[in-house]
Amino acid sequence: MKGIILAGGTGSRLDPLTRVVNKHLLPVYDRPMIYYPIQTLVSAGIKDIMIVSGKGHAGQFLELLRSGKEFGARFSYAVQEEAGGIAQALSLCEDFSDRGSVIVMLGDNILEDDITSAVHDFQKQKIGAKIFLKEVDNPKSFGVAEVDGDKIKSIIEKPDAPKSNLAVIGVYMYDKQVWDVVKTLKPSGRGELEITDVNNFYVGKGEMTFEQLSGWWGDGGESFDSLLKAGNLAAMKN
Ligand code: DAU
Repeated sequence: MKGIILAGGTGSRLDPLTRVVNKHLLPVYDRPMIYYPIQTLVSAGIKDIMIVSGKGHAGQFLELLRSGKEFGARFSYAVQEEAGGIAQALSLCEDFSDRGSVIVMLGDNILEDDITSAVHDFQKQKIGAKIFLKEVDNPKSFGVAEVDGDKIKSIIEKPDAPKSNLAVIGVYMYDKQVWDVVKTLKPSGRGELEITDVNNFYVGKGEMTFEQLSGWWGDGGESFDSLLKAGNLAAMKN
């Protein structure tokens, strides 16, 4: 299965840190933020990875990450012309995936857990999608899942009244249906093609499975505090 890391977007919540430097290149303890998702995918055996970045910074990603050899991986690059949303960035990777299954990771997500076994479970699943959930104190900042036993009933993006404290984190595994789904999406209120709409397609068909993370999880781009926390947690682990 091929991997995709999404590192487009504007990083406006971290202004002025992101006025000159791209969010995913900011330091998180001893390395640039994007090293963490790369490591998560490579450790799970995903070696063929497409990195999507915005138009102003693509050269910097290439200069930093090069062929991927240093990580024991092979990198391809794509440029997202406008920050049209996570699902829009994903739609650029159809040819790269050979219209097959993919694992998608947001370039600002930092995980303690190893996801190898979940990747294997998804590969056995044959159809549908798989996501990861994590209990958080501030669910309003994320996509939030309503769960009934081992089924997800719904996912709401940044809800005003969250039905749980289970955030949908930025690692998603999809079968080939995803390439048709992204073509049907309409921009949300914030003008983006939402990954939550992709996830709800699979929820609606009863084809979404999930796993709950046990280790810490950080969304380094959510706020200055989350960036600081991600750095501190990464330092503690070292
Ligand atoms: O971190 C998990 C959360 O990520 C999920 O709980 C939400 O459901 C999901 O929508 C997302 O929310 P954010 O508001 O944190 O997304 P953000 O706009 O910060 O984008 C996250 C990453 O996606 C970013 O680091 C780069 C990539 N991205 C984003 C946009 C908007 C792109 O590559 N292109 C884009 O146009």
